[in-house]
Amino acid sequence: MARWTVDSIHWENFDRSKVDPDLLILAKTASVVEYNSADYVTYLRNVFKGDEEFCQAVDVWGEEEIQHGLALAKWAELADPSWNFERALERFRQSFQVDLNAAESIRGSRSAELVARCMVEVGTTTYYSSLRDAASEPVFKEICHLIAVDEIHHYNLFYRTLPKYLQLDPLTKWQRAKVAFSRALEAEDEELLYAYAATNTTAPVTKENLPIYLREYMGRTMPLYTHKNFLKGMNLAVRAIGAERLKWLPGLITNLALAIFKLKARTFNRARARAVYEEALLMPLRYEST
Ligand SMILES: [Fe+2]
Ligand SMILES: [Fe+2]
Repeated sequence: MARWTVDSIHWENFDRSKVDPDLLILAKTASVVEYNSADYVTYLRNVFKGDEEFCQAVDVWGEEEIQHGLALAKWAELADPSWNFERALERFRQSFQVDLNAAESIRGSRSAELVARCMVEVGTTTYYSSLRDAASEPVFKEICHLIAVDEIHHYNLFYRTLPKYLQLDPLTKWQRAKVAFSRALEAEDEELLYAYAATNTTAPVTKENLPIYLREYMGRTMPLYTHKNFLKGMNLAVRAIGAERLKWLPGLITNLALAIFKLKARTFNRARARAVYEEALLMPLRYEST
C-alpha cells in the first residue's frame, strides 16, 4: 500500500507568492516522466518473468511512480492554471516513445538491470531532496519530500533483490561499477529533454532542438544539487556496486561530480543568457506614440 496519497497532501497550505518559476518548469517536466512509468513496469515484468513475488513488487513500484506524476501535475496546475497536464502528457507521448518490449534486460543481465534500477532511484531521491531544499512553496516542499522518501524505498526494493540475481547472473564489482556509471551518464537522456519541451514550450518538439532543451533543462537542474544531498545519494550508489568498504569513494565522487555540474551549469546558463539577449536584439523597436 502506498505510504501517502495525492489527497493526503496538505493542499490548503499552497502559497502562490512562493512559487518559483524555474522549479515550476522542472515540476511540469518531472510530472510526465513519472506518470509514464507504466511502460517500465511492462519492461521489468518481461525481464523478470517467472519471479512473481518481484513482479508484484514492481506493480506497486509502478503505481507509486504514477502517483508521483499525479501529485506533481496537480501542483503544477495549481501554480499555473493555464497549464493542462493531460495536454502536456499527450504532447510528450507523441514526441517520445521508448521500445521497452524487450524480453531481456537492455543492460545485459538481470543483475545488471537491478544495479541500473538502483542508480535511477539514487538519481531521483537525490534530485527530489535537492528540489525540496531549494523550494520555499510549502506544498511543493511536502510533495518533493514524500517523493524523495519513496525513491529510497524503491532503491531498497531493487537493492534487496540484487543478491539473489547476482548468484544467477554473477557480476564483478568492476562490472557493477560500469553499469552504474553508464546509467548515471544517462541523466541527460532524451526522455527528460523531450519531457521538458513537451510540457514547457508551445512550438513543435523536434530532435533538432535537443541542444536547446538540454541547455534550458540542465541549466536549471544542475545548480540545485547540494553537497549534503549528493553525498547521501553517492553512499547509496557505492552500496549498489558493492564498494561500501571504500569509505572515501562517495565523498570523492561527490566532489568531482559537483565540480563538473558547476562548470556545465555555467556553460548552459551563459548560453541561455546569450539566447535571451539575441532574441531581444531581433525584437522590433517599439516607440510609444505621444
Ligand atoms: Fe518517482
Ligand atoms: Fe522511484
